[in-house]
Amino acid sequence: MSLKRVITIDGPAGAGKSTVARRVASALGYLYVDTGAMYRAMTLKVLMHGVDPADRERVAQLARETDIALTTGPDGAPQVVLDGVDVTHRLREPGIDRAVSTVAAFPEVRERLLVVQRELARRGGVVLEGRDTGTHVAPDADLKLYLTASPAERARRRYRELVAAGHQVTLEQVERELRRRDEQDMTRSAAPLQRAPDAIEVDTTGRSIDAVVAEILRYCREDD
Ligand code: DC
Repeated sequence: MSLKRVITIDGPAGAGKSTVARRVASALGYLYVDTGAMYRAMTLKVLMHGVDPADRERVAQLARETDIALTTGPDGAPQVVLDGVDVTHRLREPGIDRAVSTVAAFPEVRERLLVVQRELARRGGVVLEGRDTGTHVAPDADLKLYLTASPAERARRRYRELVAAGHQVTLEQVERELRRRDEQDMTRSAAPLQRAPDAIEVDTTGRSIDAVVAEILRYCREDD
């Protein structure tokens, strides 16, 4: 029985990718690479510098001066390090949600982060998670998954996450925000969110995380 060494998990916001990818990586003893967190860290830097997220020239300049790394913290949890500082706890703020798709659409930002992501993929023993990991970051991955869920369920999940983190939002606001972000991620010209033709689609609507993880682990252990 052969294990797949490079696994990619892509899909729209709220499809359950992060939780599932983290669990699959931990079950296999693989590194979990949250590529969305890298785009979020870049967006945090843009906002901290008071730069307009839509100002391509200034964002591109900042990207050139930015160092983003993924590491594992003392408790084994993944950490995102922005210019030497752990910023993991700041990446889910609504301000970042609003600006991240704009920043992530610039080819200069994508090229910069792609180098780090490909280097991590090259080592093998990784679960890459994001929007373009099966189509661009690791097109030769051993196993590609595309996670989906109904728009209503995706919004409910994201709403619960935000409320649990103490943010004051309504379900309608979250729904609107997700729709806008999906549209931006799917229609941009640089590496848009798309299902790779060779990806297995997994619909997580109404299913438990355990069930989805078990299904994916079966694919991971299948013989070629
Ligand atoms: O998965 P997430 O919500 O943390 O991702 C945040 C944003 O980052 C998402 O709206 C689009 C962008 N992103 C991307 O463009 N490419 C990726 N591989 C991952 C995320």
